[in-house]
Amino acid sequence: MSSQNFQNTLHRRHADLLITDGRVITPSGEKQIDIACQDGRIVALGDLQAGWTADQQIIAVGLHVLPGVMDTQVHFREPGMTHKETLEAGTRGAVLGGITSVFEMPNTQPLTISKADLQQKLDRAHSNAWCDYAFYIGGSAVNATQLAALEKLPGVCGIKVFMGSSFGDLLADDDEVLRQILSHGSRRVAIHAEDEARLRQRREIVERSHDVRQHHLWRDVESAFLATRRIVQLSEETGRRLHVLHVSTADEMEFLAQHKDHVSIEVTPHHLTMTAPECYEQLGSLAQMNPPVREKHHHDALWQAIENGLVDVIGSDHAPHTLEEKARQYPDSPSGMTGVQTLLPVMLNHVHEGRLTLQRLVDLTSAGPARLFGLVNKGRIAIGYDADLSIVDLSAKRTISNDWIASISGWTPYDGKQITGWPIHTIIRGHVVVSDEALQDSPRGMPIKFEHSWKTDEINHEH
Ligand code: DOR
Repeated sequence: MSSQNFQNTLHRRHADLLITDGRVITPSGEKQIDIACQDGRIVALGDLQAGWTADQQIIAVGLHVLPGVMDTQVHFREPGMTHKETLEAGTRGAVLGGITSVFEMPNTQPLTISKADLQQKLDRAHSNAWCDYAFYIGGSAVNATQLAALEKLPGVCGIKVFMGSSFGDLLADDDEVLRQILSHGSRRVAIHAEDEARLRQRREIVERSHDVRQHHLWRDVESAFLATRRIVQLSEETGRRLHVLHVSTADEMEFLAQHKDHVSIEVTPHHLTMTAPECYEQLGSLAQMNPPVREKHHHDALWQAIENGLVDVIGSDHAPHTLEEKARQYPDSPSGMTGVQTLLPVMLNHVHEGRLTLQRLVDLTSAGPARLFGLVNKGRIAIGYDADLSIVDLSAKRTISNDWIASISGWTPYDGKQITGWPIHTIIRGHVVVSDEALQDSPRGMPIKFEHSWKTDEINHEH
């Protein structure tokens, strides 16, 4: 060994994990560089193979390394409805699908509307979650005046409001209650924008027909657009920023384009992948979601909003119900489908088919959530950031199937869909939790840290 090589060997640095030979999506574009991870963080980027040793190495030849993909809208049904989903199964599906962080919704039983409800979820997630997590607090008439305090608690990603009833009894459909909710606190408020009064008035359409192909006519464009106009008006009155979930219409997109200073926009993979009435003819009530999948011109408008930058994040709205529940006669069949495990494969397939670039997908699933929700150390591949990485094979061909789905409900609307682009390794703060598509290690998820509470003491757990 030459003296220089000997010197190099003497001065080689050591990492927990080294990822080499991958095409890495960095804030300055796609680069062929290596990544060293130590104590859960990214500690070095560049040509590292000569100067580094590691306990574990992933040779990512032919693979793309994305900053950890985040799903900012999931319903994991725990506590109260664990026959549909659990925190463990939901987060296991997340990491098998390449997801490294999830934001979980409050329409559980009990609703997540108090500090005690939040603590229960944090305790349940502790040592059960495969990926990192945060919880929305539900906003309602009963807790409106406590929301400023509740939204600051560690592990809280924000406030969620249902303007229209969807699933569960978290509802705030009256302008005065909404004004109250928006007046207490400062973080973005995530909104399910469907107008309750209009939904109630129009429900008889489908109670007579029992025809799921009319789902998007019952919960029509105006049901969504009216609610969106109302909440944006209230946002301007109260000065409170909004995050409008699962925007589903061309009308909302055109309107919201005028309000991006205080309103952010989420779109879901199902609204980008399916159209009505075809989805109902093919899938029946399995395609039944609130707000509904709509006709092609709305679908096309959502893609235009992806292309022109209007859309800030992609969220799955993972909303499991069992096949038995979905088989009830419509409209008694509950709205919802699984989505956390298929978000990344379905969106990679859209990249393969040229509908969006990989860079834009990363902007939607990592940079966007970090920007909107004020994440600490997550959202990009950079020194000092959490080593959350989604390593994908853009050319891998797979067929999505129900038996791949980890969800307790055990089905996906994409069963049988052929995909090009697939998650291969999932890394959470430097821990390889999925290697070559197989689960490794054990649940290591932690509560996500946000700027407002980054110095707060660690979460206290009952056990
Ligand atoms: O279809 C839906 N199902 N939309 C929602 O907003 C709620 C979700 C659920 O929790 O089942």
